Amino acid sequence: MTDDPARPPLARPPLGRPPSGFAMPRPGGGPGDSQPRDGQPGDGAGGDHASPLAPDATIDITAEQQALHISAILAELDRDFIGLAPVKARVREIAALLLVDKLRGRYGLGSTRPSLHMCFTGSPGTGKTTLAMRMGELLRELGYLRKGHLVAVTRDDLVGQYVGHTAPKTKEVLKRAMGGVLLIDEAYYLYRPDNERDYGQEAIEILLQFMETNRDDLVVILAGYADRMDVFFRSNPGMASRIAHNIDFPDFSLEELMQISELMLEQEQYRFSPGAAAAFREYIELRMHQPRFANARSMRNAIDRLRLRQARRLVTAGGQISRADLIEITEADVRGSRVFSMGTEPAEPAPPEPVQPGPGPAA
Ligand SMILES: Nc1ncnc2c1ncn2[C@@H]1O[C@H](COP(=O)(O)OP(=O)(O)O)[C@@H](O)[C@H]1O
Ligand SMILES: [Mg+2]
Repeated sequence: MTDDPARPPLARPPLGRPPSGFAMPRPGGGPGDSQPRDGQPGDGAGGDHASPLAPDATIDITAEQQALHISAILAELDRDFIGLAPVKARVREIAALLLVDKLRGRYGLGSTRPSLHMCFTGSPGTGKTTLAMRMGELLRELGYLRKGHLVAVTRDDLVGQYVGHTAPKTKEVLKRAMGGVLLIDEAYYLYRPDNERDYGQEAIEILLQFMETNRDDLVVILAGYADRMDVFFRSNPGMASRIAHNIDFPDFSLEELMQISELMLEQEQYRFSPGAAAAFREYIELRMHQPRFANARSMRNAIDRLRLRQARRLVTAGGQISRADLIEITEADVRGSRVFSMGTEPAEPAPPEPVQPGPGPAA
């Protein structure tokens, strides 16, 4: 598994439940939000109405969108995802396409299930795994996936180390992912042209077959750097041809990283003092140009260290403390970072992406 599995990508209340703590009210979270989904206007998932609508009947497309929680999911995406305008636009486009496809089905118009396998390209920490999770929810709401859960894997989860090991491993992962989204991080490492007997090829072939025969119940998302993915697709045209949507995740600007950090703090019920906010902006500027910078993930790690320094400060000071003291991150907490004194953040774990997998025993 990848992406520090101990941590859910974004802390937020599950769909349909009231928000708690600092969380903002859910957009569109009126009384209708908690109604059961069955029997609503949108219950025609997959065009499963026995008889098609009359040709002169009309459908309220706004109501459909609301009944299927599409509007809520998209609004939530807008709120929780800072920046990424092109990504959001692509998601809206895909959601619109699928909704229209479903509505066409209600009139008995041709609606073959569109292929939904995708490719997410971008640097580490740009939100690919988080969006894959949201995509699963969206596809479940639209009736394209039974469960919509996310199974995130890398080469090591699919490829075995000796003869006969790979097929059961890959199939076990596929079985777990059925009904949901299978995210393959750094999918290009499955293919090692330098080693013709590499078991990665076997995993690719099983994947390709599954992607074709189980496309009604499984969405595969390949993730990684754009340039390596291009090379991978050129050598694996079968895979390339099964990918319906490519979404590119741009790096975040300084301003966006600042907003992401403030959102993360807010979600954990912390807050910068005004001095801390200014100092953290400086921190980001320095950190952005250092090695192993991983966009929003580096912000997440920086915030973990801020919490540590705040805790140390409060405990060391002793005496009476208030609620506000427990919430506030001070300028001193920020400036305690080694990025200011030594120019590096030594505790930052390497993002998984740039690491070449070592040659396995049988590779
Ligand atoms: N646009 C964003 N706005 C707010 N938080 C984000 C955004 N993109 C990513 N994050 C956060 O950054 C962290 C890393 O994101 P992730 O989806 O794991 O990135 P990737 O899979 O591209 O490496 C997660 O904690 C996620 O919640
Ligand atoms: Mg990821």
